[in-house]
Amino acid sequence: MSSVERTQVAIIGAGPAGLLLGRLLERQGIEAVILEARSREYCESRIRAGLLEQGSVDTLVEAGVGERLQREGIVHGGIYLQLDEQRTHIAMDELTGSSVTIYGQTEVVKDLFDARVASGGRLLFGVEDVRIADLETDRPSVHYRHNGSNHELQADFIAGCDGFHGVSRQSIPEGVLQLWQREYPFAWLGILAQVAPSTDELIYARSAHGFALHSMRSHEVSRLYIQVDPAEDIADWPDRRIWDQLHLRLAAPGWSLQEGPVFEKSITPMRSFVAAPMRYRNLFLAGDAAHIVPPTGAKGLNLAVADVSRLAEGLAAHYASGDDSGLEHYSDRCLERVWRAQHFSWWMTQMMHTDPSDDAYGDQLSRSQIRYVCNSRAAATSLAENYVGLPFASTLGG
Ligand code: FAD
Ligand code: PHB
Repeated sequence: MSSVERTQVAIIGAGPAGLLLGRLLERQGIEAVILEARSREYCESRIRAGLLEQGSVDTLVEAGVGERLQREGIVHGGIYLQLDEQRTHIAMDELTGSSVTIYGQTEVVKDLFDARVASGGRLLFGVEDVRIADLETDRPSVHYRHNGSNHELQADFIAGCDGFHGVSRQSIPEGVLQLWQREYPFAWLGILAQVAPSTDELIYARSAHGFALHSMRSHEVSRLYIQVDPAEDIADWPDRRIWDQLHLRLAAPGWSLQEGPVFEKSITPMRSFVAAPMRYRNLFLAGDAAHIVPPTGAKGLNLAVADVSRLAEGLAAHYASGDDSGLEHYSDRCLERVWRAQHFSWWMTQMMHTDPSDDAYGDQLSRSQIRYVCNSRAAATSLAENYVGLPFASTLGG
């Protein structure tokens, strides 16, 4: 059996980008169908980001999905940067007037699922063989299989929110996209542990043993990462070995790391990637489908939120008044933020990690850069502005 359905916007992918876009469109009275390859349970348990910029929090609140976030999110006004055993607090709120919020991506996704279910918007899980067709026409369509039958979804626009490995970017004809990428010679081994965080704010540490990050998900759950070789097998990392490395890398005088039962453990490779333009005819790419950053700057989820806010604005103007300027400028405007985040994420990454392919001279340069950020108000302000994700207005005056 096969069916044909029509909607205004077909959204591929129910990650944060696709779900939030669906929500923002719904608030504007624009109809969308969201197609997701995985199950709801899988999407809700995929452990990823944990840190939201104030702009992302504001967007989620304005979209009417910020109630639990405002109640349970933990606001952080700063971070700690650590070089060997010397830990320095960077007071981002004091330097920029802004702060960040700890709230897991899993929670953002749960809130968006709940809102979608409550509003009755179309959202299909477990779709297979997703394929974009008729992109050269004004009536693009998405073909897919669901519950054993074939379906066609015709739309005015398609939003490719299907992450780095999705089909949307790959549906754009060869030669249209320009790609930039960099792979890093290290990965992050991350754990979730049932133990109160040993710190009030995040600690980013560079040590002779490599990078470590102490983050958190709540007052009861700690999130910790260590830099490892990308070829490492998680099976070779029993909990004891991970805790030993965390103790070594995060050691600081008068401070100790509390251990607890580890209930999630995984290794994530690190890459930087940009595909531009983020639009081909009526197909728009958003979030990880168009760009990836290494997690050191905590920007990936925030970029996804910024992209779909822009896209929703452009689509709203199109349907309200036929004004297509927002859609025409979508890619350029997104890419301005994307490249700032690309640079910042690369910069934080190379400053904080031990690069096995680097020489001793490079090692000293990175160490000197950390000391500079920790000792200079100007340098600390630069890091803080990028970290909290300030808007793009010039602050120089004149
Ligand atoms: P995704 O979350 O990848 O969602 C894409 C969706 O599309 C998925 O549900 C997928 O199943 C679905 N899909 C794929 N192919 C198809 C298809 N063919 N058909 C239908 N559906 C499909 N970012 C931050 O901002 N702060 C952080 O602190 C941070 N920490 C991170 C830590 C780790 C360990 C990792 C891995 C990432 C981190 N990130 C962080 C990045 C952040 O998680 C991503 O940038 C974010 O998930 C992007 O959202 P998205 O919706 O664009 O893509
Ligand atoms: C996280 O809590 O998962 C996290 C926090 C900050 C980062 C990256 C990941 O830079």
